[in-house]
Amino acid sequence: MVTIQSAIDVLTQNDRGGFTIPTAGLYPYQWNWDSAFVALGLATYDMDRAWSEVTSLIAGQWRGGMIPSILFRSDDPDYFPGPSRWGKTPGPIPSTGVSQPPVLATIVRAITKGDTARRAAVFDALFAWHRWFHDARSVDGIVCTVHPWETGRDNCPEWNIGLDLMEVSPDLAPYTRMDNKHVDPSFRPTQDQYDKYLTIMAFGASVGWDQRRLTDEGPFLMADPNIHFVLLRADQDLLAMAQGLGKPQAVLDQIEGWIVSGHAASEYLWNNEVGAFTAREVRTGRFSNGFSNCSALCFYANSGTTEQRSRTLAHLERIDAAVDYMLPSWDPDATDFEAQRYWCGPLWPQMNYMTALGLDEQGAPKMASKIRGDLCRTIEKSGFWECFNPLTGEGCVGEKFSWTAAVWLSWQHEIRMKGAA
Ligand code: GLC
Repeated sequence: MVTIQSAIDVLTQNDRGGFTIPTAGLYPYQWNWDSAFVALGLATYDMDRAWSEVTSLIAGQWRGGMIPSILFRSDDPDYFPGPSRWGKTPGPIPSTGVSQPPVLATIVRAITKGDTARRAAVFDALFAWHRWFHDARSVDGIVCTVHPWETGRDNCPEWNIGLDLMEVSPDLAPYTRMDNKHVDPSFRPTQDQYDKYLTIMAFGASVGWDQRRLTDEGPFLMADPNIHFVLLRADQDLLAMAQGLGKPQAVLDQIEGWIVSGHAASEYLWNNEVGAFTAREVRTGRFSNGFSNCSALCFYANSGTTEQRSRTLAHLERIDAAVDYMLPSWDPDATDFEAQRYWCGPLWPQMNYMTALGLDEQGAPKMASKIRGDLCRTIEKSGFWECFNPLTGEGCVGEKFSWTAAVWLSWQHEIRMKGAA
C-alpha cells in the first residue's frame, strides 16, 4: 500500500546528503529536472531540505549559465556514460555537457510563495540559465536541442528523423552499456540509438563543450516541444518572480522578449497535418509525425491558439479511449508505439504532473483530473516506479523512484490543503 510515509521513505532512501538521486543502481547521480520535482515533493514536509535540493543543483551551473543534466559528484563504475566518458567539462562539478528541461524556475516559484529571500537568492542563477537557452541553444529565435538526452525523453520516436540524418562515428571508442545490466533491455533504447548518443557526446568533447559550436555544428539539431513549453512556462514564472522582487526594467524587458519569441516559436512547432505540436528537425524543417505526451504541454505554457488547443484536446480524448492509464508518452495508435519501452509508450509521472496542471489552469479540469487520477491509480497498483505501462498499469524500468514519490506527495498535500481550507 502506498502511504505518505512510504513516499517519504523513497525520497529518504535516495537522499545522498543535500541532493537526491532518481533511484539507486540505475541512476546514481543528481539529475537536473528530477531534482526540481524532488524539491516539490520535499517541500511538502521539509522546506529546508527542499531548498538544498535546489541549491545543490544550481551549484553545478557553468559560467555561461548552463545547468547540466547530470552532476557527477563521484565516479560510479556501475554507471555509463560517467564523468570519464564526458571528458573535461568546464563547470565547478564534473558533469554532462548538455542540459535538461528547465522546470526549476516554475518549481521554485511554487514552493517559495511569500519567501522573497529564497527567491532573491536563486533569481540570478535561474535568469542566467534561461538566458543560456535563449542564446547558446537558439537558432533564428527557436530554442533547439542538440541531444535526445537533453530533452529528458531519451528514446522517444520523435528523435528518429534527427538520428537518421546522422552517421555513427567510425572513431567511437568501444564501450559497455550499464543500463541494460540494471533493467530489462527491452525497456531501454536500442544499440544503434546508443551509438548515436555517444557520437554526439564525442563531438561535444571534441569542441571542448563549446555550446554555441555544439548547436551550430553538432550532428543533431531538433526543436523539442518539451524543452520549448517547459521553458516558455518557466519564463513566465521567472517574470512573475522578477516583478515581485522589483528587478530592473531591463531584466523584465529581456524576459518579456523571451516570452514573446516563445509564443511565436509555438507556431514553428505546430504540425498541422497531425493537428498537434510535435518535434521538428531544424536543418530540414521536417516534422516528427506523432503525438507525444509533451504535445499537450501547450496548456501548461498557456500557448497556442484556441483551435490548436481544441485539436490537442481531441487527441487526448482519442488516446484516453485507447489506453487504461493516461497519458502514454507516444501515440498508442502509432506503429512504433511500445507499451513498455521507455519514451515509446509508458506514462511518466512528471509529465502527467505538468500536463494536468496546465489543463486545470486553462479550463479543461475533466481531462486534468483523468490524467492526475490515472497516475495515482498506477502508483496505488504498482508502487513508485519510474514510468508505467499505460495498458496495464505495471511499473517499468526503475523502482522506488524519486520523482514519482515527489509528484504523488505534492498532490496529496494539495488535497489536504483544500480539505483544510
Ligand atoms: C532518464 C530519463 C530522464 C531522467 C533520467 C533520470 O534518462 O529519460 O528524463 O531525467 O532518466 O531519472
